[in-house]
Amino acid sequence: MKKPLLVANWKMNPTKLAKAKEIAKFYDNENVVICPPFVFLNEVKETIKKASLGAQNCFWEKSSHKKGAFTGEISGEMLADIGCRFVILGHSERREIFKEDYLSIKRKIKITLSLGMTPILCIGEKGGEEKKQIETIKKQITDSLEKSLVKKIIIAYEPVFAIGTGKPCDSYLAEKRKLLIKKILEEIVKGGDKTPILYGGSVNSKNAALYIKEAGFDGLLVGGASLDKKEFKQIIESLK
Ligand code: PGA
Repeated sequence: MKKPLLVANWKMNPTKLAKAKEIAKFYDNENVVICPPFVFLNEVKETIKKASLGAQNCFWEKSSHKKGAFTGEISGEMLADIGCRFVILGHSERREIFKEDYLSIKRKIKITLSLGMTPILCIGEKGGEEKKQIETIKKQITDSLEKSLVKKIIIAYEPVFAIGTGKPCDSYLAEKRKLLIKKILEEIVKGGDKTPILYGGSVNSKNAALYIKEAGFDGLLVGGASLDKKEFKQIIESLK
């Protein structure tokens, strides 16, 4: 089995650059992708030797040039130039707070791929009636992906009710969702079920191994626990 990928999503943390460098240095491991806030990307990149660099978002145009003006946005070209290999896209916080829709997510996936980076597409239901949850997952996948994209990306299954709540998804349910996602991907394109799928949502050192060893995920997307040096180190250890 390939070693599980651990994606550290720092969100809007930490507040200080010195702290960002300190954490990055501490868990510089080849199966880790560190996704700091944009302003720390360069310094984190200079700090890490084995880990990969990822961004938490990316705009859908290559540059402002000719296409219009996009105050406040960061282009994929900038991210690729700085050394990012991965870009987290469609995170539920971006869908919810910034109203990102499937079309913008699809455009972001395309631009990320065109620049040689790997998109990590986040999907996940909010909870509630089973039929609706399944429909949500299906829609998030089929609306943002097309045949040619499926095998080039990574999916992160992150049930919204588990994100930042300290209430992780039951590993049995997570596995069931993973199988559903694989089925949907296979329906879009033959071999789509081989697309790597990560689990995310209140991952910690006590439950990390369950998602990998029992539920069979290819890796984890870790938020809160990725800012805690001891906890993240233990997650890495628990997967060995
Ligand atoms: P969490 O966040 O680990 O703090 O639940 C996960 C995420 O939002 O990617």
